Amino acid sequence: GIRKGEANILVVGLDNSGKTTILNAFKSPENKSEEIVPTVGFNVEKFKMDKISFTAFDMSGQGRYRNLWEHYYKNIQGIIFVIDSSDSLRLVVAKEELDLMLKSEEIESKPNIPVLIFANKMDLVESMSSVKISQGLGLASMKNRPWHIQASNALTGEGLHEGIQWLSEQLL
Ligand code: GTP
Ligand code: MG
Repeated sequence: GIRKGEANILVVGLDNSGKTTILNAFKSPENKSEEIVPTVGFNVEKFKMDKISFTAFDMSGQGRYRNLWEHYYKNIQGIIFVIDSSDSLRLVVAKEELDLMLKSEEIESKPNIPVLIFANKMDLVESMSSVKISQGLGLASMKNRPWHIQASNALTGEGLHEGIQWLSEQLL
């Protein structure tokens, strides 16, 4: 479990998947951004939910910044991996990045770190189901650590709390 109800989480996934929009939805009204722009490098966001004070490292998903992710593997208790469910062309790229992270020494040596996958943008007609995404990512072969896939719509907030609830249960 975590100490003092505080958890550091890493939020990763390809560019344009909705990471910053998801985190913005968790913030209190006075802290919410009105306009969300592509993340440059990374941002640190704080929010409280389900008795946990989260510090989230909101990483840029752009190719040229993805090498920054690994610098944050050390001090995290949980991972949120965000997928754009409508981006079927790049699901294989998302899988490559997920696999690369999971087989890094820092992460592989800590099987207690849970991975929450948001199958985001579920509202778009062309979006793949979470079952299809789960198959595409080969999640069934991730047998050594807790994982969960949750369909979400970061614009309306649908699915977001359910996902965080699962993550909180793993952390407490
Ligand atoms: P990087 O910072 O570049 O890695 O991207 P990101 O993953 O943080 O994505 P961001 O939150 O900036 O969202 C990218 C675009 O997707 C924005 O135009 C969002 O409004 C849109 N978006 C995010 N979530 C959803 C969703 O659930 N449904 C739809 N339709 N659009 C979404
Ligand atoms: Mg972002």
